[in-house]
Amino acid sequence: MTRGSKLVRHSIRSVALIAFGALLAVILAPFLDPARSAAPAAAADDRMALVLTDAERHLVLDEMRNFLAVLQTISEALPDEDMKSVAAAARTMGSGAANEIPSETVAKLPDTFKQLAGAVHTSFDTIALDAESLGDPKHTMGQVGEMLGKCNACHGIYQIALPKRAGGG
Ligand code: HEC
Repeated sequence: MTRGSKLVRHSIRSVALIAFGALLAVILAPFLDPARSAAPAAAADDRMALVLTDAERHLVLDEMRNFLAVLQTISEALPDEDMKSVAAAARTMGSGAANEIPSETVAKLPDTFKQLAGAVHTSFDTIALDAESLGDPKHTMGQVGEMLGKCNACHGIYQIALPKRAGGG
């Protein structure tokens, strides 16, 4: 009697385990397959294209790389609680430094782009001010995370396209 019910209980447990394992496999499969997760979500890049000259594209991308470099400096300074370096680095990307892109180029950029770019520069201002006044690395980390959301928002909307040249290429 007891042995029988133990067996039933045991096999119910095995079935449940197998079912759970199968469910887990189905849920995790898309994330575990490297070929699938590395593939782009869509076949074509359908983000809105900003048509810029080669020189303008270079300027914009150069600013982007500066953003990333400053984020590196900030990320390296935070574990050391070196808030002076955080503030100094953030300030180089603040709104005081936002006028490197010539006005003819700015005129070509959509309002949403300009708003998001402005918001990122303002975030750097706030990061610099708070790093100095509060000196709280955790607070700064939260602000950096929030700002990265703005970087990602813009990257999700826009790509840069070069004007099509006559004669191919
Ligand atoms: C207002 C829009 C906007 C914001 C805000 C923005 N980016 Fe970009 N970024 C772009 C666009 C557009 C490209 C070019 C993407 C493309 O053509 O595929 C780009 C490209 C880049 C690149 C590639 C640079 C290269 O040399 O190819 C990096 C790195 C980058 N962004 C980092 C950042 C970081 C970090 C932030 C936030 C601090 C940020 N960006 C905020 C629009 C933005």
